[in-house]
Amino acid sequence: MDKFLITGGHPLEGRVPISGAKNAALPAMAAALLTQKRVILRNVPRVRDIGTMRSLLDELGVDSSVTHEEHGNRVEIEARRLLNPMAPYELVKQMRASILVLGPLVARFGQARVSLPGGCAIGARPVNLHIKGLEKLGASIHIEHGYIEARAEHLKGSVFTFDVVSVTGTENLMMAAALSDGETVLENAAREPEVVNLADLLIKMGARIEGAGSDEIRIQGVSELGGTEHTIIPDRIEAGTFLVAAAITGGHLVLDGVNSAHLTAVINKLTEAGAQITEAGPDKLEASAGHEIRAVDVTTREYPGFATDMQAQYMALMTQAEGSSLITETIFENRFLHALELTRMGADITVNGRRAVVRGRTSLSGAKVQASDLRASASLVLAGLAAQGETLIDRVYHIDRGYERIEEKLSRLGAKIHRVFE
Ligand code: EPZ
Repeated sequence: MDKFLITGGHPLEGRVPISGAKNAALPAMAAALLTQKRVILRNVPRVRDIGTMRSLLDELGVDSSVTHEEHGNRVEIEARRLLNPMAPYELVKQMRASILVLGPLVARFGQARVSLPGGCAIGARPVNLHIKGLEKLGASIHIEHGYIEARAEHLKGSVFTFDVVSVTGTENLMMAAALSDGETVLENAAREPEVVNLADLLIKMGARIEGAGSDEIRIQGVSELGGTEHTIIPDRIEAGTFLVAAAITGGHLVLDGVNSAHLTAVINKLTEAGAQITEAGPDKLEASAGHEIRAVDVTTREYPGFATDMQAQYMALMTQAEGSSLITETIFENRFLHALELTRMGADITVNGRRAVVRGRTSLSGAKVQASDLRASASLVLAGLAAQGETLIDRVYHIDRGYERIEEKLSRLGAKIHRVFE
């Protein structure tokens, strides 16, 4: 299992290209199942989860190809026919986002057999709202042997209210509704930029969607959808991670190919904490450490609030802030696993349920640590960059799922980091 070996204490300097958003590319790939025509996706990040989604499409009998381009990969998908509408446990357990094929398969082919994702390190991660929403659209669904068995002669538009805001739940139902008869209204829908990017793709395919980006999305179903070409939005979480990297190492970075409008809450919070972040052009952000890092509380919220996917990275920064900060995680029930590893590096963090108190500033010392999930891994990399001495991070396959060649990008910025193959 690959490891990262990091020698900390080197401020990061230079320009870093931000890749396409994994969490926009995954639903976009699933959306290609809604048409028999060719869908071309550009700026797709070169990360493990994209490969897993391609394997899933292959399992379904759907052809896809990847071409290396200057900005990310170009992925072409043509779901002319289906071998079998089944997403097996072996693939779904690798990547929960596999659930995103459920809505398209039921809408296009009238049936689907998708493994229940099961939980993961950060929480139980139920998909009950995906299922309830599809039932509201007329699908008959039952669970057996760990699989979601769904059937629908044809889906009929309806009104569905999410009792909890769900990003992939919104995406799944928006895709299913696009081919349903009549109007669907999704209430308490997720407002994330990735939802909007998916709606943009569906509209280019011929779907009729209004309100994406708000908490009420209206979809007028159509009989069929066509092919198109579509560009994946920049990864706002990768960008936020590099903003923290500049602050925690006392460095100075320019992020290229970023959409700062997707990062308002993160930019505001990091600025409050003392970072200096400015727009350096239409798709550029300049970030440098201020003269101190201030302890500032944060509460994660659904978009446009402070992203839960930035919480672990922010916690690493708060270990270097003077004073105590309270971090409240409102989205997932167990998303503080990184706190235990940061403590092993010298941080002073007390976790109590969904709240963590970080007492800074503590100097971090390099240690052997273990990644538990994608964003916890990023947090440990950031801590390793700031720590004195060597940090060895195990199970970096977690980070490879969502960050494109992060050790290469960091090395180019002056970080002493390399991958240890074992
Ligand atoms: C998406 O996961 C992202 N993944 C996650 O990013 C992100 O952390 C999360 O949204 C929140 O922003 C992708 O987009 C592929 P949710 P998702 O459904 O859709 C509860 C990363 O690091 N819920 O918005 O699975 C759920 O338990 C990953 O890239 C139900 O109760 O998250 C959670 O408490 C990690 N029933 C809350 O809603 C459901 O049917 C939000 O979950 C669905 C969700």
